[in-house]
Amino acid sequence: MKIKYHGHAFVHVNTDKHNIVLDPFISGNPVCDVKLDGFKCDFIIPTHGHGDNFGDTLELAKNNDALIIAMNEIAIYCTNKGLKAHPMNTGGAFNFPFGRVKLTIAHHSSSLPDGTYAGDAHGVLMTIDGKNIYHAGDTALFYDMKLIGEMQNIDCAFVPIGDDFTMGVDDAVKAVEFINPGVVVPVHYNTFDIIKADAQEFKRKVESIGKKCVIMKPGDVLEI
Ligand code: NI
Repeated sequence: MKIKYHGHAFVHVNTDKHNIVLDPFISGNPVCDVKLDGFKCDFIIPTHGHGDNFGDTLELAKNNDALIIAMNEIAIYCTNKGLKAHPMNTGGAFNFPFGRVKLTIAHHSSSLPDGTYAGDAHGVLMTIDGKNIYHAGDTALFYDMKLIGEMQNIDCAFVPIGDDFTMGVDDAVKAVEFINPGVVVPVHYNTFDIIKADAQEFKRKVESIGKKCVIMKPGDVLEI
């Protein structure tokens, strides 16, 4: 399958049959390589309610008649706006037409752009066509990441490195040690000045613990 990166924490999984997007932050994202108009997706998974993660979920869902898969409070918010949404909560998993989705712990806050309470923030663990993809969401480093790595082989992990709102480089390297992924991609950095980070430094440090890191530019595609 192909995994595209569109900048910030926006990850786009293309299988033969389905288009799944996580944290589709297009409007107001200075590094995004795609436009809202004409963007196609079938499933939208915001890790939490913040504007740079929930992003254009409402508009995309409306334009594509897509299913929103999210924390219960976010799903209710979307359903109340007349959109299709599937509610989940921390630690729960569900089989969707494209694969299995589990909401994992993330240590972070969450509310929607209009101030609505959005429940807890999450990471997302997806099993699609036999591959395990982990998007850590916005989070601090936490020791239970070790369990995520122990309980399944993670083929590909997306982890934030931008600091200030999430893990910085050194905490993210420790996270990679815990998650033990086949490949890690740094996200949530350099979108704005406040989250400037050195992805090359992250890559060097990840390689020094024997793990593989791919730095993706917006528009890049990773095949797994
Ligand atoms: Ni956030």
